[in-house]
Amino acid sequence: MANLKVKFLGKEFKNPIIPASGCFGFGYEFAELYDINILGSISCKGTTLAPRYGNPLPRIAECKAGLINSIGLQNPGVDKVISEELVKLAKVYKDQVIINVGGHSIMEYTETVKRFNGNDQVFGIELNISCPNVDGGGMAFGIDPATAYDLVSQVRRVCKKPLIVKLSPNVTDIVSMAKAVEAAGADAISLINTLVGMRINLRNGEPIISVKKGGYSGPGVFPVALRMVYEVSHNVSIPVIGMGGVTNAYEVLEMMYAGASLVMIGAQNLIDPYACKKIIEELPSVMQEYGIVNLEDIIGRTK
Ligand code: FUM
Repeated sequence: MANLKVKFLGKEFKNPIIPASGCFGFGYEFAELYDINILGSISCKGTTLAPRYGNPLPRIAECKAGLINSIGLQNPGVDKVISEELVKLAKVYKDQVIINVGGHSIMEYTETVKRFNGNDQVFGIELNISCPNVDGGGMAFGIDPATAYDLVSQVRRVCKKPLIVKLSPNVTDIVSMAKAVEAAGADAISLINTLVGMRINLRNGEPIISVKKGGYSGPGVFPVALRMVYEVSHNVSIPVIGMGGVTNAYEVLEMMYAGASLVMIGAQNLIDPYACKKIIEELPSVMQEYGIVNLEDIIGRTK
């Protein structure tokens, strides 16, 4: 009998499969398709202090093995997320969720994070220092170890929930970023966010995306994500959530061997809204194929 349960930061997750932030709305939208209570948890759409309308259209460009997005952290702002989105989600999802928090300043991050401190629906905060689609914030905090250290330490002081920091792959040394956020007090690391990319419209020679560049994700980034999860998890003492181009249960196992305790599924939800359900359903037979009884036993086993 395959055991899919995984312990992460003191909580038992029924399985390691979590839809990644930005690819699953606030979760309740998918409850019309299937019982989302099968999910290990949900990482909700990135939330900022004030509402954001996002970047001008077009903000999606298709690629051979994924897509480029430049949404620009569109969301209704923290107050509406708490009073409307999480209320709708609580009606259809009974477990705790992860809140992805974005920002343009240390004040914006700390103020947003504080609002979730007393909210029992929230398991943890995923601090997004890796969004490539906003000017003067997001990824700007996640490409220099000293800047990341400063932000994470200040958020740590006000955050009463488990603090997961989401790293950008757009750096030359991912391990030094991971060590900086660990030293600043992060409880866990999630990676990778998207790789900066662009496409050009051959009819006019102009970029397809209105703000020229965006974040590339999908199956094409899987080997890069796997390598970074491996390098980070073998060089820090805090747990790691792996994501980036995961499309099936086989790739979930690879992520876990590399060192991921939990695995987030991103762009695949946009290709197939049933992706997480299918992966959870196929995990037991894929585990059996490789003689794995307890999923937890393989975490970080790759030397
Ligand atoms: O543009 C966006 O909303 C993307 C966010 C992210 O990549 O973290």
